[in-house]
Amino acid sequence: MTEQQKVHPVSDDFAAKAWIDKEKYQALYQQSLDDPEGFWAEQAKRLDWIQAPTKIKHTSFDSHNVDIRWFEDGTLNASANCLDRHLATRGDQTAIIWEGDDPNESKHVSYRELHAQTCQLANALKELGIGKGDVVTLYMPMIPEAAVAMLACARIGAVHSVVFGGFSPDAVAQRVIGADSKLVITADESVRGGKQVPLKDNVDAALTRPGTEVCEKVLVVKRTGGEIEWKDGRDVWYHELVDKQSSDCQPEEMNAEDPLFILYTSGSTGAPKGLKHTTGGYLTYASLTHQYVFDYQDGEVYWCTADVGWVTGHSYIVYGPLANGATTLMFEGVPSYPSHGRMGEIVDKHNVAILYTAPTAIRALMAHGDNVMDSSKRDSLRVLGSVGEPINPEAWEWFYRVIGNSKCPIVDTWWQTETGGILISPLPGAMDLKPGSATLPFFGVMPALVDNEGNLLEGAAEGNLVILDSWPGQARSIWGNHERFIQTYFSTYQGMYFTGDGCRRDEDGYYWITGRVDDVLNVSGHRMGTAEIESSLVAHESVAEAAVVGFPHDIKGQGIYIYVTLADGYEPSDELKKELTQWVRKDIGPIASPDVIQWAPGLPKTRSGKIMRRILRKIAANECDGLGDTSTLADPSVVDELIENRASR
Ligand code: WT7
Repeated sequence: MTEQQKVHPVSDDFAAKAWIDKEKYQALYQQSLDDPEGFWAEQAKRLDWIQAPTKIKHTSFDSHNVDIRWFEDGTLNASANCLDRHLATRGDQTAIIWEGDDPNESKHVSYRELHAQTCQLANALKELGIGKGDVVTLYMPMIPEAAVAMLACARIGAVHSVVFGGFSPDAVAQRVIGADSKLVITADESVRGGKQVPLKDNVDAALTRPGTEVCEKVLVVKRTGGEIEWKDGRDVWYHELVDKQSSDCQPEEMNAEDPLFILYTSGSTGAPKGLKHTTGGYLTYASLTHQYVFDYQDGEVYWCTADVGWVTGHSYIVYGPLANGATTLMFEGVPSYPSHGRMGEIVDKHNVAILYTAPTAIRALMAHGDNVMDSSKRDSLRVLGSVGEPINPEAWEWFYRVIGNSKCPIVDTWWQTETGGILISPLPGAMDLKPGSATLPFFGVMPALVDNEGNLLEGAAEGNLVILDSWPGQARSIWGNHERFIQTYFSTYQGMYFTGDGCRRDEDGYYWITGRVDDVLNVSGHRMGTAEIESSLVAHESVAEAAVVGFPHDIKGQGIYIYVTLADGYEPSDELKKELTQWVRKDIGPIASPDVIQWAPGLPKTRSGKIMRRILRKIAANECDGLGDTSTLADPSVVDELIENRASR
């Protein structure tokens, strides 16, 4: 039997105690399709509404009029749902376990404390002139204040826009400008793997860029006490302003469709786009999926290793778990520091029951051999989760056997920034697992496969993954550009949401995501547009033209392969390669570091001047025999040149 055919059946024992077993899944899934209004009206009751919704679903994927509303006459406050309503029953329970980069540093924040801190910051935000509808940019380390900041924004109806702490000053500037953000919350420095990252310096640099004048204030958490510049009148110490505030702050009554946050992500063209997520549907969906996909049981410690800068951190470190009254672990550091055993050691230290991580982290550990986990027992684990990219069956089996001691089901969760929450995933008590497959859709989700002409494919098939109808967690728009939202997601296939992913469905109806079919890369689970990297490169004086493709990478899943045509007067050299690498890192962030740069005197183009990426991808993957038809190229000889050069690169 090949790895791909292996099945891990649900254990009876697990199913007996799980929220959802096979029968329940079938019944609820069917109901969610037959009667979405009834199903979601019922599910929405898991939240505390100020005004309970009576209008449940009002959604259209028609490309002339994409309009997505859920629970539109309901009102609520997201922070009250994550905090206030738990105080009576679990005020002293730990809401957040914070584990520092340094293994000797950790702390517990109870629901009562988190509530008080959130109210204090909310009052501070008001003092800074922030109110309902204002956008606040967060550029923060993985510290409890990051969650506090998100919840404080939600409390007063401000919209947060979290920018991953690994992004560059330019990326921060772009997002501040794009969202008209009046305030940035940051820290002096973040700490990862024993190294300091100069967050405040980066914000200073960002705010010198033209257009960022909209940002009036910078609120700075003192994390390390490292040296920073200070701009009087603009910069405010977090502790100085927040500590003196009242720990009482009435939550703002928000409409279900009021924006909760913006989150930028990369697409195949243009600059990153800010997806707009709203309040009622998002929170219902994040909370429901968190409970059922991870089979979260009251009192358990749950750990998602993502950063709050990504949607995974939004939905499955902060909003889903806290809405459910869970104990959520937040880790400041990296899995390889101080040693590769760290992840297991954290599991033991805090009794983690559910561990949600990324294939790239698993593969990185796997490369060190089974002994890498010897410093921990991991007996507390009950459920494992994977997210961000396809997990290869070898990594799946290693995760199962070595990390999970062959006793924990793995939920391979497929979703996107745009989807707000998990769409295709096993429910651990309900699905037999096939390593490498995200298995079956969550309640209310209608995946389908289409060919390139948009024809629906039936049964076992391979094609483009689309979703036929809306679910409550779906992004409503692109901030400030609804037309682009429609163009990007609803115009490729009429009446359907196009995911950008390719996918196979097997004879059991299981979905196997095969990866992006557009010009989006997935490097270590981080999404990047080839166009973004290309436009960064051509801004360098030595670069006449650049083409970026992904190639298979053992640890990262995909690596970044760059073909560069130099401008007149520039000669290839190793120094120039280094300079271009630094250039891209500085421009976008270290996650965009090129893995390979190949000098390309010419690029394969059609006669109409379009770069044939298909050929560049093949050469990068070293599949030079199967290049296919090159006869439509303006100059076929450039291909031979590139192949020859590849070997000596
Ligand atoms: C893209 C979305 C969802 C949170 C993290 C990434 C890929 C994500 C899986 C999975 C195969 C996956 C897809 C998707 N992806 N999860 N379990 N199996 N591929 O969010 O940055 O918006 O990226 O990540 O290609 O389209 P994102």
